[in-house]
Amino acid sequence: MAGDLDALRAKIEERLQAVLAEQPPVSLYAPMAHLVKAGGKRIRPLLAILSCRAVGGKTSACLDAAAALELLHTFTLVHDDIMDRDDLRRGRPTVHAKWDEATAILAGDGLVTLAYQTMLKTRHPGLTDILNIFTDGLLTLCKGQALDKAFERRKSVPLSGYMDMIRKKTSALIEVSCEIGAVLGNASPGERRALKQFARRLGLAFQVQDDWLDVVAEQNVLGKPTASDVMEKKKTYLTIHFLENASPAQKKFFAKLYGKCPLNKTEITRIRNLFNETKTLDSARAVVMDLIKQSLSSLLLLPKTPYREMLAAYAVEIRDRTY
Ligand code: IPE
Ligand code: IPE
Ligand code: MG
Ligand code: MG
Ligand code: MG
Repeated sequence: MAGDLDALRAKIEERLQAVLAEQPPVSLYAPMAHLVKAGGKRIRPLLAILSCRAVGGKTSACLDAAAALELLHTFTLVHDDIMDRDDLRRGRPTVHAKWDEATAILAGDGLVTLAYQTMLKTRHPGLTDILNIFTDGLLTLCKGQALDKAFERRKSVPLSGYMDMIRKKTSALIEVSCEIGAVLGNASPGERRALKQFARRLGLAFQVQDDWLDVVAEQNVLGKPTASDVMEKKKTYLTIHFLENASPAQKKFFAKLYGKCPLNKTEITRIRNLFNETKTLDSARAVVMDLIKQSLSSLLLLPKTPYREMLAAYAVEIRDRTY
């Protein structure tokens, strides 16, 4: 499978490069291209193509949509890094750190526009349907990001509120990717529903894993700042589980570090230890495992093909990722 995915990745890169062909002014183009060129896992374009193939469609039918999804995703990252005050992304300085906030806001505007322009190149009778999915998904993502920010100021958030927030900020675009792939592959209504359900569950697992990595992963592997969520007082799976399960003494200890910016290495180790002692890290992994299991069961509603198996294997790869 790795070889097949690499071949798809190469096609995605080629399309992204073509779309981002340099044009003046460089003050707009360079910050727009910065993170796209820095790489990234390309999860959303890959899911779109694999979904399209899993229902009998062709990769070539999907490449503009795949590139558009990655451009839209990159736009959300550029603005997310301003919102989360992060200075590292994909192992490089974030756009606002390398240039400034005004430049990053405009680079985001440019990327979202380029995403639409690229999606509009898609030749398919369902293009209006596709644009509606794309647009509704982006609005849902914005709602999720608004909740994510609002939760920073809340003392506590119930797990149900958190799940709703991550469904919007993260699952939405993953659902959009699989659903657009399904439309481009001329999926039956049942196949389209199955792929959406798969994507929703995968997206939830993906965000819980992202929260886990925020604390567990090393910055040089993750390509993002470690413990950024703790510094920004995010309500993540980890912070919610911890606040619900810690002893008064553990909570008191944590309160000194929650919202402290920057955190040094010793403090990050302390946070890891606290999350370990309260079984928070174990619990997060168990949730990821369970959600991926559920997502795999959604795939069983699709015809048994090699591409269905690739989607399943890819979901497991996402579950076990270290960055
Ligand atoms: C990061 O997404 C944003 C989240 C929704 C957690 P990815 O982890 O897919 O980031 P890249 O594209 O690989 O950099
Ligand atoms: C990101 O959530 C969601 C979007 C970008 C829409 P995070 O803020 O957790 O993503 P990272 O960890 O910065 O990649
Ligand atoms: Mg962030
Ligand atoms: Mg964020
Ligand atoms: Mg995160």
